[in-house]
Amino acid sequence: MYTVLVIGAGGREHTIAWIISRSKSLKKLYCMPGNPGTSSVSENVSINISDHDEVIKFCKEKSIDLIVIGPEQPLVDGLSDLLRKSGFKVFGPDSDAAMIEASKSFAKDIMFKAGVPTAGYKEFDSGQFEAASDYLKTVNYPVVIKADGLAAGKGVIICEKFEQAGEALIQIFVDRVFGESGSKLIIEDFLVGEEASIFAVTDGKDFLLLPSSQDHKRIGDGDTGKNTGGMGAYSPAPIVNAEILNIVAEKIIKPTLNQLKIEGKNFIGCLYAGLMIKDNNVNVVEFNCRFGDPETQAVLPLIDGDFLKLLYSAASGKLDKSSVSFSSAASVCVVAASEGYPDVYRKGIEITGIENITEDIVIFHAGTKQIGAQIFTDGGRVLGVTAISEVGDLKAAKKKAYSAISKIHFDGIYYRKDIADKALEH
Ligand code: AMP
Ligand code: GLY
Repeated sequence: MYTVLVIGAGGREHTIAWIISRSKSLKKLYCMPGNPGTSSVSENVSINISDHDEVIKFCKEKSIDLIVIGPEQPLVDGLSDLLRKSGFKVFGPDSDAAMIEASKSFAKDIMFKAGVPTAGYKEFDSGQFEAASDYLKTVNYPVVIKADGLAAGKGVIICEKFEQAGEALIQIFVDRVFGESGSKLIIEDFLVGEEASIFAVTDGKDFLLLPSSQDHKRIGDGDTGKNTGGMGAYSPAPIVNAEILNIVAEKIIKPTLNQLKIEGKNFIGCLYAGLMIKDNNVNVVEFNCRFGDPETQAVLPLIDGDFLKLLYSAASGKLDKSSVSFSSAASVCVVAASEGYPDVYRKGIEITGIENITEDIVIFHAGTKQIGAQIFTDGGRVLGVTAISEVGDLKAAKKKAYSAISKIHFDGIYYRKDIADKALEH
């Protein structure tokens, strides 16, 4: 029986806490800092997660058996390293392995050395403005320019023409719109196809692929408008068939973990592969060093068994894949956002109707705040409403999710109406 701490405060962390709270091997669950959703399945702890000394002190006081770190920033900042050095078991990579998300050029280098299929690229640092500009005169368009470092999902610019690419270069190298994250950039070939996400839970060597999923990154229906953190997801993604799953396991995850190991970087946690798929050809668009948000809200509800045991075994260096199994269910998660997101939006608006939802729906809190018994909006992405069809009927899951979300109200509520439509076309 384990005492567990989940670190983070978003919809992903609510989902992780929710599934751990159902695990047979759980003794006690804390969430730091958590949100009003996690408080219904765990005890929230109001410690600032960037105060690493305080986090370690808490873990010692409560004899925490496993720490699950949700977001990328604490991983990149080295929270796992510190906790491991203090003797704790952690699900989440050390900072040197988290580089696979924190540096695009590092990730590309690993992929090329390991022979993992990905778009061709060249990298430039801010001293090489002229060379980058000359290179852009020789490439095919569209071309993709990516700031090297973390940029909250905004560091990727798809350029249709040379003029636009030149502007992107100025924004990144001269105007420094991504700050230090743009002190280096990569120029990458444009890939065509359909995107999907796969999570590999790993102890650094062995791994288990969780059900596939697909995110909806744009704000508007039909994939229009600005990029967001993700407006909804469904799982599994029919485009990820058995052949593709096999390629992901053998040609992507296995060689990547192996290459990381060769370079002395042991990746323990969730290796997230963002894929571009066309005619059974797969390329890696990006790796992340943690579970995706909102894909997690769609994927984890499809997992039976003891998810905590799976994470604990990974963190212990001996993955026990038999801890879990996957049901043949399908899920759809629709994100309710604040009007104006991903630009400016208001906060502190009362949310009503959550209590009316009684069907087999799970409401994951992402950006909410509780005052007394009332729940208020507190972010751009507010709630993730996940519906499940036990018989694997995505259409039925979609219908249930939209029926549920229509009962939730707050001033300025916005959500996409077409989550999962791409899957239904297949
Ligand atoms: P990333 O942060 O690397 O996942 O990129 C964000 C989004 O930009 C991806 O989800 C894709 O939709 C798009 N993207 C990134 N790289 C490429 C590429 N090489 N070709 C086409 N689209 C891309
Ligand atoms: N849903 C995309 C991400 O988590 O990065």
